[in-house]
Amino acid sequence: MKHLLKVSDLTKEEILDLIETAVKLKRLKQEGTSHKYLPDKSLGMIFQKPSTRTRLGFELGIFELGGKAVFFDNQSIQLGRGESVQDTVRVFSRFVDAIVIRTFAQATVEKMAIYSSVPIINALTEYSHPCQILSDFMTVSELKGNDFENLKLCYVGPGNSIANSLIVGCTLLGMRFSIACQQDYLPSKSVIAFAQQNQGKLLVTNDIRAAANGSDIIYTAPFGQQKDVDEELLSKFQLNEDVLSYCKPDVKVLHCLPAFKGKEITEDVFEKHADEIFLQAENRLHMEKAVLIKLLGGNNAI
Ligand code: CP
Repeated sequence: MKHLLKVSDLTKEEILDLIETAVKLKRLKQEGTSHKYLPDKSLGMIFQKPSTRTRLGFELGIFELGGKAVFFDNQSIQLGRGESVQDTVRVFSRFVDAIVIRTFAQATVEKMAIYSSVPIINALTEYSHPCQILSDFMTVSELKGNDFENLKLCYVGPGNSIANSLIVGCTLLGMRFSIACQQDYLPSKSVIAFAQQNQGKLLVTNDIRAAANGSDIIYTAPFGQQKDVDEELLSKFQLNEDVLSYCKPDVKVLHCLPAFKGKEITEDVFEKHADEIFLQAENRLHMEKAVLIKLLGGNNAI
């Protein structure tokens, strides 16, 4: 693994290996055992959009591994006022050991990878959110075990970077996956094609009950903040008690957060499943540390 730009950069074996490493790192942290596997390594973080979890995970993650992060938001970096991606990344490559980028277009992170001499990590684009989805699969394994091929995950909501990433990840892991979404908010055609070419067990439908039927895990995400988001239309795809009643009785609920209760999920469902959702949030830290170790070669001791 040279960079982490999108979920399809990974193999099934690499995903399982990352989960195993993240679980070990989580145990070390819980025991209070020092795990500075990346001493003196540095991380450049460029976030052109807001973040809570991803920033916490990488900034504290590299610190706990013995390294240091330097964080830039869009106002405090020259990239934000027009310096080119190529020049920015060539400068960063001479200062830091890896770059974490949250931006808009997937093409930006792909371009960065071309010009960078250090690993590039996608911390969210409009196309993919690989760090989120890797920690989600870690959470699934903790809640439901590692027998991914016998699990069904349903996603309710717009076909955004989370839906795109789940489709690819579930396909790689052999997991059954359904997505309930409105026709105007379908996932990317390229991820549907990826699922079709790789025998993905995928159902895309606007029938929310059919999608939820028999699910072991049900997942939702915020509607998004683009100007063209039709909240009234999307509210028909809300995760509520009625939808949950079509899932398995022991269904687990995931939400990538931030949550907008009363919109994509009801407050009741959110609070009833808060332990699962905040476990999912915590796992961002452990998985982001695992990603850093795999990319920066600090895994000798794990
Ligand atoms: N889910 C997620 O990526 O959270 P943040 O936007 O807070 O980083």
